[in-house]
Amino acid sequence: LPGRIVLAGGRGLVGSCLARRFSAEGYDVIILTRSAVQAPAPLMVSYLQWDGRSNGSWVAAISGAAAVINLSGASLGSGRWTAKRKKEIVRSRVESTTALVEGVRSLENKPKVFINASAVGFYGDSGDAEVDESSPAGNGFLAETVRRWEASAKPVVQEGVRLVLLRSGVVLAAGAQVLKRLALPFRLFAGGPIGTGRQWMSWIHADDVAEGTLFSVRTPGLSGSVNLISPEPVRMKEFCSVLGKTLYRPSWLPVPGYAMRLLLGEMADMVLQGQRVIPRKLMAAGFQFRYPALPEALRELLHRR
Ligand SMILES: NC(=O)c1ccc[n+]([C@@H]2O[C@H](COP(=O)([O-])OP(=O)(O)OC[C@H]3O[C@@H](n4cnc5c(N)ncnc54)[C@H](OP(=O)(O)O)[C@@H]3O)[C@@H](O)[C@H]2O)c1
Repeated sequence: LPGRIVLAGGRGLVGSCLARRFSAEGYDVIILTRSAVQAPAPLMVSYLQWDGRSNGSWVAAISGAAAVINLSGASLGSGRWTAKRKKEIVRSRVESTTALVEGVRSLENKPKVFINASAVGFYGDSGDAEVDESSPAGNGFLAETVRRWEASAKPVVQEGVRLVLLRSGVVLAAGAQVLKRLALPFRLFAGGPIGTGRQWMSWIHADDVAEGTLFSVRTPGLSGSVNLISPEPVRMKEFCSVLGKTLYRPSWLPVPGYAMRLLLGEMADMVLQGQRVIPRKLMAAGFQFRYPALPEALRELLHRR
C-alpha cells in the first residue's frame, strides 16, 4: 500500500485536487480541517479536526505518514489587505506550519516528507528577469509573508525529515475564483489587459499542481524550494489575448493600474506586479508537464464538457 497522506487545509482549491489525485493512486488521504464537517468525505478520504495552531489528537495521524502536505492559510484574495487582514494572512500560515512541525518533533515515527505550499510571490516584482530557485527573496508584503512562512517550515529538517517548499503561482482550475474573475469581463465583451500588460504571470494548470506534488512525494532527491509553475510564463497582455481567443472574445479594453489600486488597494500588487518564474528543479528532475503551454491549459479548463 502506498501509505497515508495528510493534507492540512485540504478542503480548499488545491487540497481538493490533491485529495482526488492521491486517492486515485491508492493513498489514504486524511484532511485536517478547522470545521466540524458533517458531509461524508469522498472515497478514501477522511476528515480530522484540528485548530490549526496547537497540538492535539490529530498528531497521531501524521505518525509514519508517506507525506504531510500543508496548505493552510487565510486566503490572500478575499477582501482588502487591511493591517488586521495582513496579520491574519501571516499568522494563519506561521501558526499552522509551526503546529505541524511541532507535531513531527513529538513523534518517534516521522513522516517521510513534509511538503509546504508556498508561492512565487517570494521573488517579489522581478521585472523581465527570469527567476529560478536560486534567486533571492524580493520585497513587499507577499514576499515577506512567503519568507516567514517558509522559515517556519524549515526546522522540520532538523528532525531528519525531507522538506519541499512548493512555490506556485496562479493555479488555473475549472472552479477557481481567479479564473472566473479574469474571464468575466471577456464573456461580457469588455476584456483587456490589466495595468501596463507587460508584467509577467506565472501560472499552472491544477492537474499539474496535483501531478507535481505527487512527483515531489515520490522523488527522494528533491528538496528545498521547488517552483511548481508551468515552464512558459506569459506577460499579462498575452494571457489576456489567449483568454480572449479561448472564449471567442476580443481583448481590447485595458484596465488601468490606478483603477485596480483604487478598487483593491495594496492587493492590486497581485495583478499589477509579477515574476517570470522557471521551474528549474522540476525540469532537471525530469518532471513532464501535462499543460506546459497556456492555450491548451485554458482550452481544457474553459471548454471542459
Ligand atoms: N490557489 C492559488 O492560486 C495559489 C497560488 C500560490 C500559492 N497558493 C497557496 O497554496 C495554499 C493552498 O491554496 P488554496 O487555493 O487551496 O487555498 P484555500 O482554498 O484558500 O484553502 C486553504 C485552507 O486553509 C484553511 N484556512 C483558511 N483560513 C485559515 C485560517 N485563518 N487559519 C488556518 N487555516 C485557514 C482552510 O481550511 P479549513 O477551513 O478547512 O480549516 C482552507 O481550506 C494556500 O496557502 C495558498 O496561499 C495558492
